[in-house]
Amino acid sequence: MEFIVLSNNVKVPLVGFGTYKVNDPVEGKRAILDAIKAGYRLFDTAQQYGNEKLVGEALSECGVPREELFITTKLHFKVFDNPIPRLEKSFKDLRTDYLDLVIIHWPFGNYYNAWRVLEDYYKKGKIRAIGVSNFEPGRLIDLIKNVEIKPMINQIEINAYCQRKEDIEWYKKFDVPLQAYSPLGHGSHPEMQQEEAVINAAKAHNKTPAQVLIRYITQQGISVIPKSSNEKRIKENFDTLDFSLSEEEMNAISKLDKKTPSVGRSEDPILVERLYAKND
Ligand SMILES: NC(=O)c1ccc[n+]([C@@H]2O[C@H](COP(=O)([O-])OP(=O)(O)OC[C@H]3O[C@@H](n4cnc5c(N)ncnc54)[C@H](OP(=O)(O)O)[C@@H]3O)[C@@H](O)[C@H]2O)c1
Repeated sequence: MEFIVLSNNVKVPLVGFGTYKVNDPVEGKRAILDAIKAGYRLFDTAQQYGNEKLVGEALSECGVPREELFITTKLHFKVFDNPIPRLEKSFKDLRTDYLDLVIIHWPFGNYYNAWRVLEDYYKKGKIRAIGVSNFEPGRLIDLIKNVEIKPMINQIEINAYCQRKEDIEWYKKFDVPLQAYSPLGHGSHPEMQQEEAVINAAKAHNKTPAQVLIRYITQQGISVIPKSSNEKRIKENFDTLDFSLSEEEMNAISKLDKKTPSVGRSEDPILVERLYAKND
């Protein structure tokens, strides 16, 4: 496995496994075990996904030693005023006494308070790295200017239709590595895999369009966490580091950018309203 290295030398696998909507007690657990078998060691969950218990159960039974796994969870913005009880539940549900990465899921509510709690857990050695998610550059810079420990990673939607080229320059300037969620477009854009630039590159490398879309991101030094519940696709998404796209292929895919996220921007009023209305 290749890695990105955070400011504190923690190594984050370049390809990890997303678990949003991996909730079924039987099929979900099977998918996580299939991912282990395929070679994934990074598992990305969140308090909001309602599956930390399932992820914890599967990982505790998977046969891989804890120190070889990389477990990420995210703090739900609805607990930012008092994050400790819910964070302690994450440790319990995930059956671990330390977490590799804990992330502020959305820049809403009292996230400064939540960040200070994460700093405290980090200093105590209970969390190996702390980061944020869905922080557009302005929010991220503001946070950096006002906290003791700079976020070590920003997990944000990046895929062929939402490439964030200008934003990436800001993240680079402030030296915050990225992790791309929804690298395949959240399942909402099957047409992404039909794009000529993607199909041509897939044919040239004897790979699938999904593999090309994932490689397009990792080749920029960005970690990815694709989700699948299908054994074949789980394996396919992992087997993406044994080829490189040419400069021409990268340029052709670069032109597909529509600057439209599938999940939504943290500044999008419809998304914000929807997330606050959710009963989780
Ligand atoms: N921080 C955040 O706010 C945030 C937001 C969204 C997601 N995430 C994280 O990022 C992870 C990945 O994002 P995502 O789940 O939104 O979307 P994604 O990984 O871009 O896409 C998942 C969808 O693509 C399908 N798929 C997967 N592999 C495929 C392949 N090789 N060929 C064709 N289709 C394929 C899946 O269907 P099948 O399952 O049927 O294969 C599923 O419908 C999540 O699971 C979660 O851990 C974080």
